Amino acid sequence: MAVQIENAVTSGTFSLDGGTWDVDNNVWVVGNDEECVIIDAPHDAAPILEQVRGRKVLALLLTHAHNDHIGVALELAKAVGAPIHLHPEDMVLWSQVYPDVRPDRFLADGDVFEVGGASLEAIHTPGHSPGSTCFLLASEGTVFTGDTLFNGGPGATGRSYSDYPTILTSIRERLLPLPAETVVRTGHGESTTIGAERETLSRLADK
Ligand SMILES: [Fe+2]
Repeated sequence: MAVQIENAVTSGTFSLDGGTWDVDNNVWVVGNDEECVIIDAPHDAAPILEQVRGRKVLALLLTHAHNDHIGVALELAKAVGAPIHLHPEDMVLWSQVYPDVRPDRFLADGDVFEVGGASLEAIHTPGHSPGSTCFLLASEGTVFTGDTLFNGGPGATGRSYSDYPTILTSIRERLLPLPAETVVRTGHGESTTIGAERETLSRLADK
């Protein structure tokens, strides 16, 4: 059976640099009937656990450590007995939420996670945050981009620890070369494709 990709949306707030904003976040659950991985842990563990449906959770993969993506990471990891994976360069953000706890494992570019007979590959895409990481599920023609690439262009880079030239380089060098039909599943909002976002990015370059 092919690996399944399921989505839940949770609502809450994102806070950084003294501001707070209301946000809806996507959670992605990838797996088969027996096992799965969870991508991101925003706001509310209950709907995420509902999506897991008692399956074995192999890993909780974090696209980055903004508080709207990791708010229930510890609660969720404990509930499902899975290790938390985060890129070490996002510890500066993680520590603002969990000053006394560390993630279980540090992600590195090229890490591969096997789940349900498929492979998820970590792609380090700094810019939105220093440790931002996408997860490519090549067999299903999809990539989970967190807040690095949205439907409509790059993620925000206006706040601390973000950098606009860096996110553009990450997107151009690591994401846009993927096949045009690759479905981009984002941290907020609707999905898109690499082909559509190539067009968005080329318009940005014209400015
Ligand atoms: Fe973010």
